Amino acid sequence: VFESINQAPEDPILGVTVAYNKDPSPVKLNLGVGAYRTEEGKPLVLNVVKQAEQLLINDGSRVKEYLPITGLADFNKLSATLILGADSPAILEKRVATVQGLSGTGSLRVGAEFLTRHYYNRTIYIPLPTWGNHPKVFTIAGLSVKTYRYYDPATRGLDFQGLLEDLGLAPSGAVVLLHACAHNPTGVDPTPEQWEQIRQLIRSKGFLPFFDSAYQGFASGSLDTDAQSVRMFVADGGELFAAQSYAKNMGLYGERVGALSVVCKSAAVAGRVESQLKLVIRPMYSNPPLHGASIVAKILGDRNLFNEWTVELKAMADRIISMRKQLYDALCSRGTPGDWSHIIKQIGMFTFTGLNTEQVAFMTKEYHIYMTSDGRISMAGLSSRTVPHLADAIHAAVTR
Ligand code: LMR
Repeated sequence: VFESINQAPEDPILGVTVAYNKDPSPVKLNLGVGAYRTEEGKPLVLNVVKQAEQLLINDGSRVKEYLPITGLADFNKLSATLILGADSPAILEKRVATVQGLSGTGSLRVGAEFLTRHYYNRTIYIPLPTWGNHPKVFTIAGLSVKTYRYYDPATRGLDFQGLLEDLGLAPSGAVVLLHACAHNPTGVDPTPEQWEQIRQLIRSKGFLPFFDSAYQGFASGSLDTDAQSVRMFVADGGELFAAQSYAKNMGLYGERVGALSVVCKSAAVAGRVESQLKLVIRPMYSNPPLHGASIVAKILGDRNLFNEWTVELKAMADRIISMRKQLYDALCSRGTPGDWSHIIKQIGMFTFTGLNTEQVAFMTKEYHIYMTSDGRISMAGLSSRTVPHLADAIHAAVTR
């Protein structure tokens, strides 16, 4: 019965790893997926995660029962505090509904399904460009996806005027997706002053902000600074959605641990929202997994572990910043034509190089360097050892 089924294309991001794995070259380099690697090119399990896992193993009273539909209660509380701040009025007034999600993607999906069922405006505006999975997640949940201008290829920076114009023309009440920090794929974030203007526009038009926070701690190295955009929208008393992922900032990629928080107008509304989120989750995956959330709850709930985490997080962020500098210097020393200063100006895990699809294909074919076809490279996959190889490849691609 499936004779006529077509072969589906690989995922534009995860498919890069599939292609990389098939390449026998000893010099191959995977800069596709946003996953942290050490200077030795190895995946990193944070020390603090190992400690938390040991504590969980040593705790003989732990069982493997189902979690509630909404997930681990401590984890939810601590996650809301991490993104909104311990002194957040919304938390103090108990008007935040938080549910555990399957990392960022699952949290976005649950939020989107909820909006399709309960929100009057089913249009979501997403930045152009954005993470490739965003339009798919929202479309499949039943929202209609539109874009607003975000990135200006000419300046390799924010197209702030375009953003204001497009959102200014959007119908009131629309949902607006915002990257809380370290915009993926561009590495370009609004300044605090620009955020304030965006906030005013969003509130004046009655839009519903939906934050995707996948890189808290990775943009500036400070958890609080990276949550400022979200917190501005809580400080004004308005509503918002926020999806969090612990894939990058705790290195818990495969544990699929994240959260969705809905900031409401009152505790009563938050309670009703939570009851409806349960109806979204139960038929989708029943209830979320225990292990990753237990690790996160241990780390966030213990002052010493928390402090150690911030040190390890900062070390990851700093290594990425040093890769930016090294790549930039390597291109300058080769005299590679063009202005490459965006490599050091952009923030977070990625550099949006400006290389085109053809140049990317050339670098993959001739240099065995793998990246997404839009020219995004994961700086976290780079090391001092591999910078020269990448710089040679970029140089060859732009001068051929
Ligand atoms: C990325 O953008 O590389 C990551 O968020 C991984 C993913 O799931 O796409």
